[in-house]
Amino acid sequence: MQEATTVGRMWNPSLYIGSIVQDPQDRVAILPPRIKESMPSPEPKPGEAGWLYRVLEPWYSRECVDNVMQAMLGGQISSGAAWPRRFAEQICQLYGVPVALPTSSGASALHVALLACDLGPQDHVLVPALTMVAVANMVKMVGSRPLYCDNAPGSLNPGTEEILKRATPRTKAVIVCHTYGVACRDIEAIAELCRDRGWWLVEDICEAMGTRADNGKLVGTFGDFAVSSLYANKQITAGDGGWVHAREKKHHDRLKSLINHGFDPAYHFLHFETAPNAKMNGLGAAFVCSQVKELPGIMQHRGHLAAWYREQLSDVPELRCMEQRQNDSPWVFGVETRDRKTRDALRDHLALHGIETRNYFYPLHLEPVNFYGNDVGVYDIVLPVAEALAQVGFYLPTHSFLERQDVIYICSRVKSFYQSATEATPAPRSLGWADVERSKLLERDEQ
Ligand SMILES: Cc1ncc(COP(=O)(O)O)c(C=O)c1O
Repeated sequence: MQEATTVGRMWNPSLYIGSIVQDPQDRVAILPPRIKESMPSPEPKPGEAGWLYRVLEPWYSRECVDNVMQAMLGGQISSGAAWPRRFAEQICQLYGVPVALPTSSGASALHVALLACDLGPQDHVLVPALTMVAVANMVKMVGSRPLYCDNAPGSLNPGTEEILKRATPRTKAVIVCHTYGVACRDIEAIAELCRDRGWWLVEDICEAMGTRADNGKLVGTFGDFAVSSLYANKQITAGDGGWVHAREKKHHDRLKSLINHGFDPAYHFLHFETAPNAKMNGLGAAFVCSQVKELPGIMQHRGHLAAWYREQLSDVPELRCMEQRQNDSPWVFGVETRDRKTRDALRDHLALHGIETRNYFYPLHLEPVNFYGNDVGVYDIVLPVAEALAQVGFYLPTHSFLERQDVIYICSRVKSFYQSATEATPAPRSLGWADVERSKLLERDEQ
């Protein structure tokens, strides 16, 4: 007999429903009302002219391209080249840690960090509900069960209380995400809690490289492990890529083996455990190496963007700006409307004027994958703060090419939505402007 749940259950769950139900409309048609009513609307399309402002833009310089060329000319293209080692040294220096290993992505970095925690099917891992799906996926990849935590009231991250509420005797690890580059306000207390309980603490800084906690310390220095992403929409980028770092030297050899098929340092073809290939290639490492020194400047600019957005939106009472912490330089700048309908209409209005935005995450406990996987006890819990934020939150263009005039223009379009009598400022840019700015960075100094 099936148990009754608040959202209903599937009788014959499929492992990958997309292979059977190919029409996207059909895939959502059978979802329970609670998911259907709260799931994100289809993404807004740009007006006829296309996107004038993308939500994020990759930023890189001539030096990145020259390094890649040098790597190619010297045959230094694989994970065994000098470039990944050089990049790892820079990360060790930046975070003051003895161990850093470049990886193929943020997700693969998280995968190996969780493997290094020796998690198994009996273990529970506490994760935020409002984060990117890779966090839950990687917990499932190591065979453990993610337990989703609500956001603390008024915060983009769970606090100690929300974590304790979901803790079980089988809890073995906690993942803190510093969502959108806003430092988790309870990170010090959570680190202490993990030490007391003997839980691993993994900081996922995929959205928060260079972010500082309220006490001024870089996030990624509180946990046993930290993982980051170098995907093209991140502060610095290798196109795709990431890294894992650890606070204690003892983790070096295990992590090194875990990113590399489980190769053993002493016996080349003896494998003592099953492991992925999660290594970063030499070209990606060459590309990102010279960007590490730019990170403080990039984060300072993010701080300016946040201050400009807050200043320009201060006279829009209908809109709440994202959580502001002591060190306010988020990866992306988020705003929250009063209700879902207004959020969607405002995003449509901005898209019509070529301004791309992105919704806050859809909470992971409500993802259709749980329903199709018949993961009872996951999709039928209620996490009110995360669920409410997902309905009203979205983020505005936030990247290294934006200047104050751009923020003023974007905000004038926001204001013209709420106050139809208000004239928007003329756009200071024309189509393709970010590509022009990027190509200026790529020009060779000819002297
Ligand atoms: C919090 C979080 N964790 C993990 C990832 C996965 O990183 P990647 O896309 O490099 O695999 C992301 C990606 O943006 C993320 O936002």
